[in-house]
Amino acid sequence: MRKILFMLSIIIVFLSCKEEKNVVKTKEIQRGYITDKAMVVSARQEASKIGADIMAKGGNAFDAMMATEMALAVSYPYAGNLGGGGFLVYRLADGQVGALDYREKAPLAASKDMYLDEDGNVIPNKSTVGPLAIGVPGTVAGIFEAQKRFGKLDVKTILQPVIDLANNGFIVTKNQENRFKNYDSLFTAVNGKKILFNQDLKQNDRILNFALAETLTRIANNGRDEFYKGETAKKLVQFLQEKGSIITLEDLEKYEAKWRKPIQFQYDDLTITSMSPPSSGGVCLNQIMTMVEDFDLKSYGHNSLKAIQVLVEAEKRAYADRSYYLGDPDFVDIPLETLTSSVYLNERMTDFTFKAPTPVDSISHGNIIGYESDETTHYSIVDQFGNAIAVTTTLNGGYGSKVYADDLGFFLNNEMDDFSSKPGEPNYYGLIGAEANSIAPEKRMLSSMTPTIVEKEGELLMTVGTPGGSTIITSVLQTILNVHEFEMGMQEAVNAPRFHNQWLPDEIRIEPNAFDKNIIKQLIAKGYKINESRSPIIGIVDGILVTDDGKLEGGADKRGDDAAVGF
Ligand code: DON
Repeated sequence: MRKILFMLSIIIVFLSCKEEKNVVKTKEIQRGYITDKAMVVSARQEASKIGADIMAKGGNAFDAMMATEMALAVSYPYAGNLGGGGFLVYRLADGQVGALDYREKAPLAASKDMYLDEDGNVIPNKSTVGPLAIGVPGTVAGIFEAQKRFGKLDVKTILQPVIDLANNGFIVTKNQENRFKNYDSLFTAVNGKKILFNQDLKQNDRILNFALAETLTRIANNGRDEFYKGETAKKLVQFLQEKGSIITLEDLEKYEAKWRKPIQFQYDDLTITSMSPPSSGGVCLNQIMTMVEDFDLKSYGHNSLKAIQVLVEAEKRAYADRSYYLGDPDFVDIPLETLTSSVYLNERMTDFTFKAPTPVDSISHGNIIGYESDETTHYSIVDQFGNAIAVTTTLNGGYGSKVYADDLGFFLNNEMDDFSSKPGEPNYYGLIGAEANSIAPEKRMLSSMTPTIVEKEGELLMTVGTPGGSTIITSVLQTILNVHEFEMGMQEAVNAPRFHNQWLPDEIRIEPNAFDKNIIKQLIAKGYKINESRSPIIGIVDGILVTDDGKLEGGADKRGDDAAVGF
């Protein structure tokens, strides 16, 4: 009997082992904040809440866009703005997609060599700090254009909570306290006096911005033209010219946001819609994803040696193309069809091998891209009607040019630095471009912003984006792959450690202390250079995912003060 029992137990153990082998273990997905109908994820709790409240009042994603964007201008002056620009990518409930370009433009008086001295050398800081760094702002035109076409509520209803926020104030976070401190002396140097944001502000202090409340009230009353032709325009131009800017009233009057055809491509069963030029985001994302599509990333594993190698090599090739071919499509012919064709992209990867890095100088004839700054902001919105938007907006550097129009209550951008001041030579952020991105009057400077919407089998899956200069594209890429290939939830995908390669400099930048030491060692052994110390974070991704049961999951990046709010 004992023998029989023993044999039986062996058989049971054997069977259970066998069964375990056949079990397909699905990874347990960790979820973030969940709502049923609508959500905003942005860089500030206040802005997400104001956007979500607008939808609760019956507004849609485009109404919420106007509210969120302006609330960020109040509570997140580091990147939220009236004096900057941005890009919107949308997908309507019926599946129609589109994109709006409200990128800044070079002023009419701008010229190709405006940042060069007599010997043709780039004058340090001229394109980054102070009045000459400023491009013609597009944000107010952008939010009005989108809201006019698709919104449901009236502008006064949308802007009133934002005006209240400016009047009643917002609370300084620890991150903000640190940033205000870091920029203190520069604010004074550029503006010739203390401004609202360098008054020794501490965490939990409240900042009231009455000047901005007044500007927003005039805009709410008089509409878009208030900013481009009205009293605000006149005040702004007078202020800018006193400061030494070349921007005129004509520049403001001529500014227009432009509807663009977004970049759209397939990856497995996903349809991805992202920003077209003058952003490089969609093109590069399309290139990288097409180059890696035939590799079995899922079986390699998240942040595994092979997955990192494949992605890095595809990134190198895409960024090499970016620097040479991309610029404002209204000024340069971009061979978009070729750049995004699978024949071309598969050809680009034929010299890839897992044995060693492809040498950077064998990849293209090229021009080099260095690092960009880390001070843009992205927000994602899904409304209760099924519309989804992804919006990335920026002043470029933190607080833009640092020029602060204190009568109007906002900073002006330093977006002119996204042009290539001298083709072939790095700008302040190390960015080198080619002729395609040289300065010309009314031209839009090349961007990396990548607001992106993902569909799966014809249904909305995700809206996503991030700040981070040139790391924007690779952060968006990794977040999509984390969900699609590595079965993560939205918050989990946002939290996961990120890496970045942009062809030149010839290195893989990784978030510190976040990667397996063994994998780093193996990459180094293969010949890759690793930079773990450039900055503590790569990107601040905000996104919304539609879960299998039709709910919305927010991914609000805790690398910042970001927050998801919805209902
Ligand atoms: O448009 C661009 O690509 C840059 N001006 C973005 C700058 C940026 O992302 C800075 N912040 N994170």
